[in-house]
Amino acid sequence: MKFFIDTANLAHIKEANDLGILDGVTTNPSLMAKEGIKGQDNILKHYADICALVDGDVSAEVLSTDFSSMVEEGKKLAAIHKNIVVKVPMIKDGIKAIKWFTDNGIRTNCTLVFSAGQAILAAKAGASYVSPFIGRVDDSNWDGIQLIEQINHIYSIQGFDTQILAASIRNALHIVRSAEAGAHVCTCPLDSILGLLKHPLTDIGLAKFLEDAKKM
Ligand code: E4P
Repeated sequence: MKFFIDTANLAHIKEANDLGILDGVTTNPSLMAKEGIKGQDNILKHYADICALVDGDVSAEVLSTDFSSMVEEGKKLAAIHKNIVVKVPMIKDGIKAIKWFTDNGIRTNCTLVFSAGQAILAAKAGASYVSPFIGRVDDSNWDGIQLIEQINHIYSIQGFDTQILAASIRNALHIVRSAEAGAHVCTCPLDSILGLLKHPLTDIGLAKFLEDAKKM
């Protein structure tokens, strides 16, 4: 499973990248706004800065919701760097745009996916990635991991190439369960990635080893 970091924060991206385990980055308008990135030139520059930091796919989301504007926006985003993947919302014009991008050699990430039916449409349109939001599914009293399992099952038996990108990760257990459920990629905040390191027996064991090392 590939690890992406889900943030527009350059310090977090650098910290995860320095671990040597980072395969890419996802952003969204909320994450960009959180970093105070405003105006088209600054937005494009910020994506370029992320691409300069990480050698892997970087999802950059379109802000428009009609087909022609999404295509125009996506072309500009894709021109920033070869690793840019255009992130498109799961709406009717979004599916049309994903098909257009696919036919024109531009890779896409279909975002805001909450059902297997939506994941089938994204794959039919040729999306490179589909992003089921498992944390938000859990928040609405459904089972986000079960959704990953269902999409994985459908994609396997139907032979779809679209990669399942588990998104809206809230903790380290979500990462482990996504891996078990067959997600190809997990996009996580830095805290969830670092959460994988934690085990009290590791801390206790290391303290004991360091104490005994003094007797060596
Ligand atoms: C996916 O690419 C989105 O950026 C993200 O995972 C949404 O997560 P949230 O539900 O924590 O906002």
